[in-house]
Amino acid sequence: MHRFDVVIIGAGAAGLFCAGMAGQLGLKVLLLDHAEKVAEKIRISGGGRCNFTNRDAGPGNFLSRNPHFCRSALARYTPQDFIALVQRHRIGFHEKHKGQLFCDESSDDIVSMLLRECEQGRVTRWQPCAVAAVRRVEHGFEVDTAAGTVAAPRVVIATGGLSIPKIGATDFGYRLARQFGHGIVETRPALVPLTFDAAAWAPFSALAGVSVEVGIETGHGKQRGAFVEDLLFTHRGLSGPAVLQISSYWAPGQPIRVNLSPRAELSEALRAAKARSRKQLGNQLAELLPARLADAWLAATPELAVRAVAEAKDKELDTLAQRLQRWELLPSGTEGHRKAEVTAGGVDTRELSSQSLESTRVPGLHFIGEVVDVTGWLGGYNFQWAWASAAACARQM
Ligand code: FDA
Repeated sequence: MHRFDVVIIGAGAAGLFCAGMAGQLGLKVLLLDHAEKVAEKIRISGGGRCNFTNRDAGPGNFLSRNPHFCRSALARYTPQDFIALVQRHRIGFHEKHKGQLFCDESSDDIVSMLLRECEQGRVTRWQPCAVAAVRRVEHGFEVDTAAGTVAAPRVVIATGGLSIPKIGATDFGYRLARQFGHGIVETRPALVPLTFDAAAWAPFSALAGVSVEVGIETGHGKQRGAFVEDLLFTHRGLSGPAVLQISSYWAPGQPIRVNLSPRAELSEALRAAKARSRKQLGNQLAELLPARLADAWLAATPELAVRAVAEAKDKELDTLAQRLQRWELLPSGTEGHRKAEVTAGGVDTRELSSQSLESTRVPGLHFIGEVVDVTGWLGGYNFQWAWASAAACARQM
């Protein structure tokens, strides 16, 4: 039987990074993945340019039932640490928006960098190689794989979440956690477009393609999420960064509230226009919002659209402003794991060490990356969690 110091299952972002670091720290590492290629999600991420971290990543950018859990790992492996690694490998990058760092050329650069780090750590990689079972034995674990049974005192589960099953996502990590008695915080698609009842959406479907910066929020108290981001209208519902962000906070049956003019009080702007403008209300509104959006909002009250702003009553202007700035919608669902960027929920952190990501139930068993109940916002945060949780694990093994 082959023996290693650690077997890491899942050669995605967290698994590759953990393997390279553990190998360079002197451990004999086996990295296994059932997929043909490593890190397919890195490859397709960030539109092919991999938003590999966010300069400002901190615990406040993550959702978890146990919000403090991620603090330790994030503090000990920071965005600056990953940026330094990217620079050492001479990979060009740029900041796009709100601290989000992307490769200048291609996400393949990050994959190649992680593979080089694994080579430096003399990591053994078996791929494609399915894993049939993981057993606890006297001095650690035995792992039954398509290439035979291997033994190690430590096993790291880095099999990620459920999104995009067609490139290799499985529920392996959750099943294995349950096998060893771990609780799972209910999983759900996150960073995902929201859908609406077809009849309720019909008046807005003509807006498909319109993109506008909005304020968006949902939930209350600790469950409240609020963002100012771009919203994209689609034929079936809403997408774009605003909706992806809010989807992680959305629960079925809960409305979302959208402010279509987050940087200006519309009722003030319309009342001010009333004093000096000779325009029709529809045309005036089209100066404050994308014209197609203004048209759609006035379609229900065509007589108001053609009325001169100067003749509109204050109350009518206030009602219109309120409809635009406190638009409440009830999504019918999400586009599911097929379209989600990540899976929220996962292995309950209350039974993991925040220092080493090791199980407090089963010594030697670690869970890292997306399989854990730590979910980042859109914008490079999920990769930063993959790197940070992997580093915490590798350094403590
Ligand atoms: P990851 O999914 O990377 O790796 C899991 C690995 O486990 C895979 O290689 C899989 O094949 C393997 N595996 C699964 N089941 C197995 C089994 N039964 N046996 C063996 N192996 C198994 N994040 C971000 O920060 N910036 C971004 O730009 C993007 N962009 C983005 C775009 C798209 C389209 C998606 C779907 C996701 C993103 N993300 C992102 C999210 C990011 O990709 C994700 O959070 C990380 O890849 C998670 O890293 P992990 O290593 O935990 O899982």
